[in-house]
Amino acid sequence: MILKELYELTENMLAAAGVEDHRFNTDCLFEDILDADKVTLLLNGDREVPEPDADRLMSAAEKRCSGIPLQYILGKWDFYGRTFFVGDGVLIPRPDTEILVERVLEHFEKAGNSSPEICDLCSGSGCIAVTLKKELPKAKIHAVELSSDAMPYLIKNIQSNGADVKIIKGDITDGRLLENFLDPDDFGEYRKIDGIVSNPPYITDKEMTELSREVKHEPEIALRGGADGLKFYRIISALWGEILKDGGLIAFEIGYEQGEAVRDILRKSGYKNIEIHKDLSGNDRVVTGIK
Ligand SMILES: C[S@@+](CC[C@H](N)C(=O)[O-])C[C@H]1O[C@@H](n2cnc3c(N)ncnc32)[C@H](O)[C@@H]1O
Repeated sequence: MILKELYELTENMLAAAGVEDHRFNTDCLFEDILDADKVTLLLNGDREVPEPDADRLMSAAEKRCSGIPLQYILGKWDFYGRTFFVGDGVLIPRPDTEILVERVLEHFEKAGNSSPEICDLCSGSGCIAVTLKKELPKAKIHAVELSSDAMPYLIKNIQSNGADVKIIKGDITDGRLLENFLDPDDFGEYRKIDGIVSNPPYITDKEMTELSREVKHEPEIALRGGADGLKFYRIISALWGEILKDGGLIAFEIGYEQGEAVRDILRKSGYKNIEIHKDLSGNDRVVTGIK
């Protein structure tokens, strides 16, 4: 089959299977699997595609038609201009999370602190931790993650991006994890850090029953945030606030309907200057506070 016929076939397959943005998906599969971008299609559309290549393309298209996310098929996705490996067991980095990173960078720039110590809780692919380290090369960044399935991606993404991020494997709801921050010079006391950032699981139990077929492929541990979706905000604000300096930043990504509830959680935990920031669609997406 020639290239342009294969393109038409793939696009029609994806459209018939109800894949949103089927043309964009087809473009990505062609670029990744056949190294054929739009210009190649225009100039060399009549080129014969070798059968093994066409088979690989078809097999990827069938996966996409069955609802497997495009990012898992490609095995990588971009976040804040850098590439992150993704696949089964790890959440796909979202553009909304870039807003969280921007707010954190903005805070430390305004504070004139180019070497903050920051803890990224629920790190997943490491997109937040790695980006912070690359944008603030003098910062000390910790990435905390529980999932053994996500861990290989976190390690690989730290290495492939050449980011010196320290991994802590464990459950952020377990207070013993704070022992990583015990002060060697002050017995029993914690060393205080400048920032806590997290995009925790925040989907409610009800929303978990209404996920799109693509999101259903992503790990439940990365999504489920308890009955009201707020479990992790309560725990992080109270527990991890223990290691935050006075004047330190706490910054959360939130579900678009959770702004006021998370503001309330931070207020009750004693944080000040609480702000809700919007994403590019005008939805509440990030909440920040100062200890
Ligand atoms: C919403 S994802 C965020 C991943 C990544 N930070 C991002 O923004 O793309 C939440 C992450 O929290 C992890 N997680 C869930 N429960 C956890 C826990 N109790 N302790 C540590 N990590 C946890 C999940 O495995 C998942 O990687």
